[in-house]
Amino acid sequence: METLRIIAITDDILVLRELNRTAAALGATFTSFKSVGAANFDPTPMVIVADAENPEALEAVRQWKTQLPTTLIAAFVSNPSRTIWERAEAAGFDLVASRGALATQLQKKLKDWQSAPGKRRMRICDIADLAGRLGVIARLGDLPIGPVAVYHFNGKVFAAEDVCPHAGARLSEGALDGTVITCPMHGSQFNVCSGERLRGPADVAIKTHRVDMEGGQVFLALG
Ligand code: FES
Repeated sequence: METLRIIAITDDILVLRELNRTAAALGATFTSFKSVGAANFDPTPMVIVADAENPEALEAVRQWKTQLPTTLIAAFVSNPSRTIWERAEAAGFDLVASRGALATQLQKKLKDWQSAPGKRRMRICDIADLAGRLGVIARLGDLPIGPVAVYHFNGKVFAAEDVCPHAGARLSEGALDGTVITCPMHGSQFNVCSGERLRGPADVAIKTHRVDMEGGQVFLALG
């Protein structure tokens, strides 16, 4: 079960004080760490807050989103620089807010986040990165929705279950012909855009998942 836990990776006194108050208002626990390396993510936090100017945090966001897909990951900006703000958004933070507005914005975002699990998603890549990458562009394991393969065909991105329903082979390791994947183990075929089963021995379709393209980025829906 998701723990009501907020963690911050910063020693900014104002941010720590505000987050402490926010946690108390939400009935959550609050813990702070001085660096990404020192942070402890067990039990899974509801929120991680980091400084948008911390290069370690910028680098870690992608990994956090894979390992902690239900966690809201926020960054605060102390310096009113557009570049810092944009860099944090591009890194994949779910929320970027100025230092002074962080607590308010966080509570607002958290309300939406908790009431709309369908909006939970993880960033796959920048839309600009799709150019020249056709077919399988990502294989994602350890997700709450199971292993997923992400495919790109002519500007459109699709995500499909990456486990063959016949005997569990990893489908994305099979041959891809257009939008049809052939299971590497016994040859079942599926359309990876619709999930439709085209040939057995598998006798059911594979699941597909919603992919959103927004703000120059590609996201996989996790709920
Ligand atoms: S495991 Fe895929 S067809 Fe058997």
